[in-house]
Amino acid sequence: MGRSSPFLMSLFAFLVPFSSLPIQSLSSTDSFVFVGCTQQRYAPNSPYESNINSLLTSLVNSATYSSYNNYTIMGSSPQDVVYGLYQCRGDLSMPDCATCVTRSVSQLGMLCSQACGGALQLQGCYVKYDNATFLGVEDKTVVLKKCGPSIGYDTDAMSRRDAVLGALVTTGGPYRVGGSGDVQGVAQCVGDLSLVECQDCVSEAIGRLKSDCGGAVEGDMFLAKCYARYQTGASHMYSNSKNHPAGKSSNDGEKTFAIIVGLLAGVALLIIFLTFVRKVLEGPGGK
Ligand SMILES: *[C@@H]1O[C@H](CO)[C@@H](O)[C@H](O)[C@H]1NC(C)=O
Ligand SMILES: *[C@@H]1O[C@H](CO)[C@@H](O)[C@H](O)[C@H]1NC(C)=O
Repeated sequence: MGRSSPFLMSLFAFLVPFSSLPIQSLSSTDSFVFVGCTQQRYAPNSPYESNINSLLTSLVNSATYSSYNNYTIMGSSPQDVVYGLYQCRGDLSMPDCATCVTRSVSQLGMLCSQACGGALQLQGCYVKYDNATFLGVEDKTVVLKKCGPSIGYDTDAMSRRDAVLGALVTTGGPYRVGGSGDVQGVAQCVGDLSLVECQDCVSEAIGRLKSDCGGAVEGDMFLAKCYARYQTGASHMYSNSKNHPAGKSSNDGEKTFAIIVGLLAGVALLIIFLTFVRKVLEGPGGK
């Protein structure tokens, strides 16, 4: 009886890291950021469904040679038209872009099954489709805002952060990176915006980061057509700490996913543990 307790201990030791996935660095690629699906659904095996499938196939194929593209699939009737685009982060190589979009499309298929429209942001790419056109339309709606806990009174780090964010505003272009000391920032527009619209969108995202994520160790501001994010050296400690005191982050999807991974890991370890206990009970000679 007393024998099993060390193994139970090791079971829980394994569960802890699995159920608190670390915050991803700004340059990772495939991890989940957010997903959104429309309420309206389409009928299975409808013409609209086959149009979505050909749209998503086109996006995946295009991502092997371009970091942005848009498609409009015309149906035989006007209500079957579907619009879609993808945007890879500016630093991704073409193979990485294709991998990211492929992954994103397959996750969309599961997460937004039979939804008329869906949008999924991974760290490295964004994919969206809908039956209402959104191509070429600037949209500064806040889709995801996430602020880390307050950095406290480290005014030095905060002034470096403000400098990095300020530089992101003036850098120009659809993809912008900057850093100062341990502070890193990145901004990305979706490729259907003009340079002027992109500038406007990034300025808005950064203004909101500054006002909403005041003294936060890290911040993410995803608007419908662009995003801006930053991390400081303290982000690392924040992501490693189990309790996020001031981190009222709103990324429930990430948490749910972490919990599911934790549960799966727990089940797997339980099976290994029970197998082991059975072996021990059966003794060296077997039955
Ligand atoms: C999109 O599809 C839904 C469900 O079929 C429909 O109610 C809506 O009117 C469509 N929107 C457009 C712009 O066609
Ligand atoms: C969509 O793609 C077409 C063809 O590649 C391109 O000419 C057009 O400018 C794109 N539209 C937008 C809004 O990006």
